Amino acid sequence: MKPSIIVSRPIYPEVIERLRTHFDVTAHQTDPEWTPQTWTQALSQHDGALTMGIEPVNDTVLAACKRLRICANLSVGYNNFDVPAMTRQGVLATNAPDVLTETTADFGFALLMAAARRVTEAERYIRAGQWQKWTLDMLPGMAVHGSTLGIIGMGRIGQAIAKRAAAFDMDISYHTRSQRADVAYKYVANLVDLASQVDYLVAITPGGAGTKNLINAEVLKALGPQGFLVNVARGSVVDQTALIEALQKKTIAGAGLDVFVDEPNVPAELRKLDNVVLTPHIASGTVETRKAMSALALANLAAHFAGEPVKTPVPECRT
Ligand code: NAP
Ligand code: 8YV
Repeated sequence: MKPSIIVSRPIYPEVIERLRTHFDVTAHQTDPEWTPQTWTQALSQHDGALTMGIEPVNDTVLAACKRLRICANLSVGYNNFDVPAMTRQGVLATNAPDVLTETTADFGFALLMAAARRVTEAERYIRAGQWQKWTLDMLPGMAVHGSTLGIIGMGRIGQAIAKRAAAFDMDISYHTRSQRADVAYKYVANLVDLASQVDYLVAITPGGAGTKNLINAEVLKALGPQGFLVNVARGSVVDQTALIEALQKKTIAGAGLDVFVDEPNVPAELRKLDNVVLTPHIASGTVETRKAMSALALANLAAHFAGEPVKTPVPECRT
């Protein structure tokens, strides 16, 4: 008998077909709008899961999931997993690093450019019929080339963003918990100091308790009225209330946000503001990259049930 796998949300049909060659697959090809109860109940019927990085797998859920052996996230972030709880119950956690690095970095840089040069605001201006004549004060933006950039998180994606910034002659600094020996950019141990030194601050860390509200009112104040924040990490990394206030009062110049505290709910206050570019958590969203992420998740599931080592266990599950 084939192991039984749940696919939590819609995914390319060809991926489902490939999964069916290894597994008995329960696919949810129309969005199931899981509640904690329906998700737990569904997961409890399976040996493995292909999850999209947003479905919780914690003690409460696991208590009902005695068959479960592996959860393979279709995302590099795995803040939906309580890894110690999974390990206690013998459930392996895998993620999908590397294959989305360049695509996510492209998008992070696109958000930075869009916020600085007011791209979406300018588009709304035209669509609203406001472009009547040329004027000097028409939507002036901030320079990107030759400016200063602070990257919070200098891992795979942070380094790929830095590579793009270097081509724009940006002066690059970064903040992480530990300084990296393998990058030459300036390390700033204190995040408030970093924010006070740069024009653009880009967040690209993991989510979860360790980074909750890392970018708080003090950091935003230090970024200042000429500074821009870009968040492609997780909504929880930024104090969203403090950010809304900073944008409303223009104590920072603007922001580009791909992630939010309570997705898909984006506060009305944010949606009203012109000095913020908003996107619905799509930084890794190209067809090519989504297919590569799916292939990696599938390879992890297949390896595990074949008794082989998985390709990309989350760091805490590496032996
Ligand atoms: P990675 O290679 O593991 O890099 C993570 C970086 O964050 C490391 O440099 C790490 O350095 C730093 N970090 C961790 N905790 C920190 C803290 N408390 N303060 C400061 N820095 C901290 O991961 P990656 O592949 O680059 O991915 C990073 C994250 O991007 C993912 O976990 C996910 O949340 C997000 N992401 C979002 C999207 C999207 O669609 N918007 C797409 C892909 C990824 P230290 O350990 O030294 O602190
Ligand atoms: C995903 C992500 O789009 O990889 C991550 O951490 O945030 C994104 O690539 C998202 O998790 C949905 O799968």
